[in-house]
Amino acid sequence: MLAGKNITLGITGGIAVYKAAQLTSNLKAGGADVRVIMTRSASAFVSPLTFQTLSGNRVYSELFEPVMEWKVQHIELAAISDLLVVVPATANILGKVAGGIADDLLSTVIMATTCPVLFCPAMNVHMYQNPVVQRNLTVLKDLGYHFAGPGKGRLACGAEGPGRLAELDVIMEKIQALLPSKGDLRGLSILVTAGPTREPIDPVRYLTNRSSGKMGYALAGAAAKRGASVILISGPTNLQVPHGVEMRYVETAAEMFNEVMEYFPRVDIVIKAAAVADYKPREVSGQKIKKTGANLVIECDKNPDILAELGRRKAHQTLVGFAAETSNLEDNAHQKVRNKNLDLLVANDVTLPGAGFEADTNIVKLVYPGQYVLPLPIMDKTALAHRILDEVLKLRSNGQ
Ligand code: PMT
Repeated sequence: MLAGKNITLGITGGIAVYKAAQLTSNLKAGGADVRVIMTRSASAFVSPLTFQTLSGNRVYSELFEPVMEWKVQHIELAAISDLLVVVPATANILGKVAGGIADDLLSTVIMATTCPVLFCPAMNVHMYQNPVVQRNLTVLKDLGYHFAGPGKGRLACGAEGPGRLAELDVIMEKIQALLPSKGDLRGLSILVTAGPTREPIDPVRYLTNRSSGKMGYALAGAAAKRGASVILISGPTNLQVPHGVEMRYVETAAEMFNEVMEYFPRVDIVIKAAAVADYKPREVSGQKIKKTGANLVIECDKNPDILAELGRRKAHQTLVGFAAETSNLEDNAHQKVRNKNLDLLVANDVTLPGAGFEADTNIVKLVYPGQYVLPLPIMDKTALAHRILDEVLKLRSNGQ
């Protein structure tokens, strides 16, 4: 999976440095060429020799070393990296990058690189919750830097809360998701739906739900990155259009139905991550409904079930649905697979912390026809999107 990939690890000074040593070993075992940059304080926790031995490469630390190589180090390291992972990322390095400071080798390489940069923060809970650190995280996220964690739990300083380095498998999944595309979806056309629908009540009010669109946009972005031609049909969200994706915006379930049916005959795969309103108000008032002394009753009609209709019309397409459940997840999921004629259902219990609506992560079970169920661990939505696409490819190679 990682063969031929150049991964640069930036190690900064925190107790979680010892876990970065294991990550170095895992990346190397996966076939990556790993280069390590250590800050001075990182070297106070673990000797550079450890990383040199595990990576099989010399460890870089000083910006202005006596000339050992002809090439300018920070430019060379920045240019050859497919991915730069800062692990652990202290409040100090986050602050420096957010503030545009490049005063040592690591911060200079981060400034000079054009590859994706993944920060894996780890620090004391109060440092993490400090508004300055929170502001820096927001700045960095807005600038397109990527994050894994931090996780929650008992910290080395004895405190409890957010600030632990993310688990290594979470970091590995994120690394895989951020590495350049395998191109394995080239030649395939994929329709993804995302976000909520809005069903108008009057000119100022509507019925909707809590979908942010993150899950569907992650799927569309991941599929485009892997070479698919992607159409994303989205309800209202605040998200950026993923690179390389053809966008269609809709508001109501009826509008989503029409767009989806128009594209359906031309696509190979449909993934329905949208949270479509099951009901819409029977009457849409042309004027704002005025408050009176009486209660207001809004009578609703059923919306068309888009996915069930796709299941009826399905010919050569692979059909993937989502299910947002709050109880009896597996029973409900099996029923949806049967009733909607699906090849795969991604079922999430939206009551779990870190799952479902609005979160950056999700916890799902993959449910197949014939009652087979594959539970997945909590995953970042981008990593999960890649996992779902891997499953879709497997299904297609088995003729589904
Ligand atoms: O957008 P996020 O904030 O990232 O949140 C992600 C999510 C929770 C929205 C996503 O993970 C998810 O679960 N999406 C499906 C939500 C949903 O509508 O579940 P459902 O069980 O009600 O519907 C089952 C399937 O039928 C879904 O694929 C849905 O798109 C489809 N459907 C439902 C009703 C309808 N009228 N037409 C449909 O096509």
